[in-house]
Amino acid sequence: MSAQTLEVHGKKISLPTGLFIGGEFKKAREGRTFPIENPATGKEIIQVQEGQAEDVDDAVAAARKTFKSKEYEEFGAVNRAKCMIKLADLMEEHFEELVTLEMVDTGKTRHQASNLDVPASIGTLRYYAGWADKILGQSNSDIPKVFGYTRREPVGVCGQIIPWNFPLLMFTWKIAPAFATGNTVVIKSAETTPLNALKMCELIQKAGFPAGSVNLVSGYGKTVGAAIAQHMDVDKVAFTGSTATGRNILRAAANSNLKKVTLELGGKSPNIVFPDADLEKAVDWSVWGIHMNFGQTCHAGTRIYVHEDIYDKFLEAYTTKMKAIQVGDNFGEGVSQGPQQSKMQYEKIQSYLKAGKDEGATVHLGGKAKDLGNEGYYIEPTIFTDVTPNMKIVKEEIFGPVVVVAKFKSEEEVIELANDTTYGLAAGIHTKDYERAVRVTSALKAGTTWVNMFNFVHWSMPFGGYKESGIGRECGDAALENYTETKTVYWNMGMPPPTDGSK
Ligand code: NAI
Ligand code: MG
Repeated sequence: MSAQTLEVHGKKISLPTGLFIGGEFKKAREGRTFPIENPATGKEIIQVQEGQAEDVDDAVAAARKTFKSKEYEEFGAVNRAKCMIKLADLMEEHFEELVTLEMVDTGKTRHQASNLDVPASIGTLRYYAGWADKILGQSNSDIPKVFGYTRREPVGVCGQIIPWNFPLLMFTWKIAPAFATGNTVVIKSAETTPLNALKMCELIQKAGFPAGSVNLVSGYGKTVGAAIAQHMDVDKVAFTGSTATGRNILRAAANSNLKKVTLELGGKSPNIVFPDADLEKAVDWSVWGIHMNFGQTCHAGTRIYVHEDIYDKFLEAYTTKMKAIQVGDNFGEGVSQGPQQSKMQYEKIQSYLKAGKDEGATVHLGGKAKDLGNEGYYIEPTIFTDVTPNMKIVKEEIFGPVVVVAKFKSEEEVIELANDTTYGLAAGIHTKDYERAVRVTSALKAGTTWVNMFNFVHWSMPFGGYKESGIGRECGDAALENYTETKTVYWNMGMPPPTDGSK
């Protein structure tokens, strides 16, 4: 299947739109396509091939064939690393196209896509390229008359299901550790944001990845996603998305072949400002805590707890900064907050704005959609105050530019409040007292904690959640565990066969 040309604000971008199976772009078996829209305008921009369960079967068969082949085994770790480095170089060459595709697909600003999404994706590939030939086992020569050693082997065919909030970054977070360790992959992009995964497959082809090592099936969750999760020949599934879908995936794994499962799910992360914090910096980091990706970030700092002594001062400065955020078409000059990614998300956020008002919280700022006279999905940055712990807006993930700000009196009280959630993805504190920083970060039940910052994540450090925020860790060397099986080998060095004890 040949590539299409997508025109975005006068720029022409070549984009393959087929399924990528066995190293080639193909039409879906049923031949159906689905529309992709620009969230800034609500208008369709392109049609993409829509996979079904039978296409997943084809992709899994291609991934299995490659995984089992002598050629892939002999291709080896050093060549896999070379492919990944080449892919990262190609991404730099195609930097502008990747930025533009991410912007038109998701509603991100140029500032964010070009400073965060694309460079972090390139960084992730280079980082895991470095690991490819360093996956070593252990040996034990202290067992009497037995030599023991371990091998770290690839798991096999890995199913990977990614969301729409960071389509390019999640694509690289998933494929990089899997490919580095010698697995093969069947990945599914989110149905509203498939463009950069397609572009990446074009670059993967150019970078010389063995055919069938990375396969992509675009399509919907209930069809393609479910088919991956319940497939009998998929050895592992990695998922990022909602807690509800995470549960379905775990169930599908249990009901099929007990494939290994890692889940990176939702969050409702607390952000705590102590009275001794550098107030100006705490305000700026707290703005970034929700402003990043317009709140559509699993680790967003959505619950801000401020000590009563500085509450008024903090709220005033914080409100001024939140008010200054320019909401508009993400391709427009001076715009710092684009549209929410989809109509579904736009409507979900508005239902939470209503719930907050109905439950008696005070709308301190925003609290409604912003009408730009088109069909785009704009929401005003919103601050709720006068909240109580049982309100929906305090308990549930909203995934929009909406925070609750509450007061606290003591360290003990705020630790209780912060941990009073079913989630445990991330948490942040602002303080100059280093003893308090150690004490409080230790007490917070969250996979990532920040001191005097927020929403910073680096590919070299583990990322994942406590409690209902997930299972397992991505990034860093922790992710390598998910993609390798440890095999123990015992080798007899003179141990006689056991007797039955009668002699
Ligand atoms: P979702 O979890 O349903 O979708 C994420 C991915 O899973 C998509 O690729 C989707 O097609 C796929 N999927 C959906 N149903 C599936 C199934 N039964 N089996 C296998 N795959 C399936 O999330 P959705 O509906 O897009 O967003 C709902 C909420 O989830 C958001 O409002 C937000 O609160 C949360 N979310 C959290 C994310 C995170 O980074 N942790 C990312 C995206 C959404
Ligand atoms: Mg869903």
